[in-house]
Amino acid sequence: MEQYRDFFEANRQSWNLRAAAHKSTTFYDVEAWKAGKDSLQSIELREMGDVRGKTLLHLQCHFGQDTLSWARHGAQVTGCDLSDTAIEYARQLAAETGLEASFVCCNVYDLPQHLAGKFDIVFASYGVVGWLPDLKRWAEVIAHFLKPGGYFYFAEFHPVIWMFDDNLEKLTYSYQQSDVIVTDNQGTYADQDADIQYRDYSWNHSLSEVINSLIGVGLCLEFLNEYPFSPYNCFPKTVKGEDGNYRIQGLENIIPMVYSLKATKISYQ
Ligand SMILES: C[S@@+](CC[C@H](N)C(=O)[O-])C[C@H]1O[C@@H](n2cnc3c(N)ncnc32)[C@H](O)[C@@H]1O
Repeated sequence: MEQYRDFFEANRQSWNLRAAAHKSTTFYDVEAWKAGKDSLQSIELREMGDVRGKTLLHLQCHFGQDTLSWARHGAQVTGCDLSDTAIEYARQLAAETGLEASFVCCNVYDLPQHLAGKFDIVFASYGVVGWLPDLKRWAEVIAHFLKPGGYFYFAEFHPVIWMFDDNLEKLTYSYQQSDVIVTDNQGTYADQDADIQYRDYSWNHSLSEVINSLIGVGLCLEFLNEYPFSPYNCFPKTVKGEDGNYRIQGLENIIPMVYSLKATKISYQ
């Protein structure tokens, strides 16, 4: 991971800027969430089902809203994120709401050196894998933290989305892009008008790369689902459907926008 150190540091700084800006956005709607609104989406709620009493590790948890929502659903939660601004705010939200949670600030690749224990569920969602250059190592971290019989649940934006340019007008990146993608940004997906500028570094990962990395560490794929919509309004030129989900205008139900999967660590006893 040493070769990626400068990229991770730049991304940490960029996520600190985003996290600070996100606190007050209507996108995250923290006040409504504090009052009890669930930040989790119907996809993961339906596909994961009952989490009561389960230990749940949330990788790349941002400022912990979803982590703490899982606590409201009865899980014993731990969140990890690279951004110190995000983790500081996650701890503040836990204290303000009285929800039980632990948060660890570190690179997901370094988590085994910062956190002990095994979990029933490892969870990650929406906008995470693109910040990681090496999915084999990512899958090793997931497998490391799973109890035998535990599962990894993942809901993520579809790699087809990341083939487009910023305006979602032109196919720009290869589906199986292995090179780092360098982007200069203004504002954030949660607030285009936020007064922040930063450069970040990301990687596109095909479905086969994600799935084979999980199979490669011995996890057993239980399902893979693809959805032609996003539950989040975080892309340009979206239209909201009657189902409350967002599709790209002109590409409605033509391209996949989200996928989800569940992969279990088989127990051989
Ligand atoms: C799009 S956000 C996750 C959003 C999440 N679904 C939510 O809305 O709360 C991506 C998160 O990944 C974190 N991140 C990026 N690279 C990371 C890394 N190498 N290790 C740990 N966290 C990382 C960022 O700090 C950011 O909080």
